[in-house]
Amino acid sequence: MLSTDIRSHFPILHQEINGHPLVYLDSGATSQKPTQVIEAIKNYYELENSNVHRGVHTLGNRATDSYEGAREKVRKFINATSTKEVIFTRGTTTSLNTVARSYGLANVKEGDEIVITYMEHHSNIIPWQQLAKETGATLKYIDLEADGTLSLENVRATITDKTKIVSVVYVSNVLGTMNPIKEITQIAHEHGAIMVVDGAQASPHIKLDVQALDCDFLAFSGHKMCGPTGIGVLYGKQALLEKMEPIEFGGEMIDFVGLYESTWKELPWKFEGGTPIIAGAIGLGAAIDFLEEIGLDEIEKHEHELAAYAMDKMSAIEGLTIYGPTDPSKRAGIITFNLNDVHPHDLATVLDMNGIAVRAGHHCAQPLMKWLQVSATARASFYLYNTKEDIDSLIAGLRTAKEYFNDVY
Ligand SMILES: Cc1ncc(COP(=O)(O)O)c(C=O)c1O
Repeated sequence: MLSTDIRSHFPILHQEINGHPLVYLDSGATSQKPTQVIEAIKNYYELENSNVHRGVHTLGNRATDSYEGAREKVRKFINATSTKEVIFTRGTTTSLNTVARSYGLANVKEGDEIVITYMEHHSNIIPWQQLAKETGATLKYIDLEADGTLSLENVRATITDKTKIVSVVYVSNVLGTMNPIKEITQIAHEHGAIMVVDGAQASPHIKLDVQALDCDFLAFSGHKMCGPTGIGVLYGKQALLEKMEPIEFGGEMIDFVGLYESTWKELPWKFEGGTPIIAGAIGLGAAIDFLEEIGLDEIEKHEHELAAYAMDKMSAIEGLTIYGPTDPSKRAGIITFNLNDVHPHDLATVLDMNGIAVRAGHHCAQPLMKWLQVSATARASFYLYNTKEDIDSLIAGLRTAKEYFNDVY
């Protein structure tokens, strides 16, 4: 287990909610932010605030150095070959939409196939639905095994020579399933398709290596990995990005503007129209420093241990159904569950009365809810600052809720 000292870096955790110490189990929605990230943003606004890439003055140069320095940190974090392959966006959603609107509209035509899975977040469904509608392509879903994992047999059975794009979540935000991205990428490439990875729930927890995965695009968000909201990343292979058109046009992304024709800056800036998210990128850079100091392997191990501990204790609660892989080594620190017929919103409300923050609802994954044959679930998601004591509190809260609802439901 990671040391509980880590908690001292997160000021928000040291408060009471409804008279109880806060137990934050909703990091899958957004993570808390360490002092290092808060200070980096404060430092930027107090000492460097200026627009980037255009200043001849000292502040402008400082801001540009910090912004581009953050890009280099991201490059190293995901092991991209060049910072040309690292585009700052607003988050995973924007990154995936950029691939669909730019690569997709230029390369997908009627009769082609786009392949995703039943466990995707809406952000990795709707851009492809729209692309399929606009181009006449077919959107296909890879079916899941009963335990919420993907089998390579099903992957092979779904991807064909007509497939142009395969887009799969690395870690499911509902089931916690960790998907075999490297193997799926290989199958996609054998059929001449490109591989897009939704890394929103992977980047906070797993050491990413885009060269080892060989994926063509990877999308993730800063706010789920200790960084601020409003910043995310689109990684793309340089050869693909070079051929793609921007989807946003305006200042910052241009080289020359004439009355009727304009040309674009080189990579990665041609995809960053308008004043960039400077403070956000700097905050993300500080988050990467923080996570790397602790070590992604250590973080992943910590979460597996918490997940195993929680699943063991939760399975002992009669009437509690856990969705997703039963083997904790096959899942990240995300546990989705229902308690008898109690509506997850009611359950989450009672837990909140006890200071415990969990998520309830469809988790932006309505097709997966349909697949699970439920309308909603509750979800506890763990991060590096959670402890076994947090899980004990969750278990106690669930037992209290169970007693409370025995009379109601
Ligand atoms: C798996 C997955 N994909 C995509 C997203 C969308 O991320 P964002 O809202 O930061 O764009 C989320 C957010 O919860 C997610 O969990």
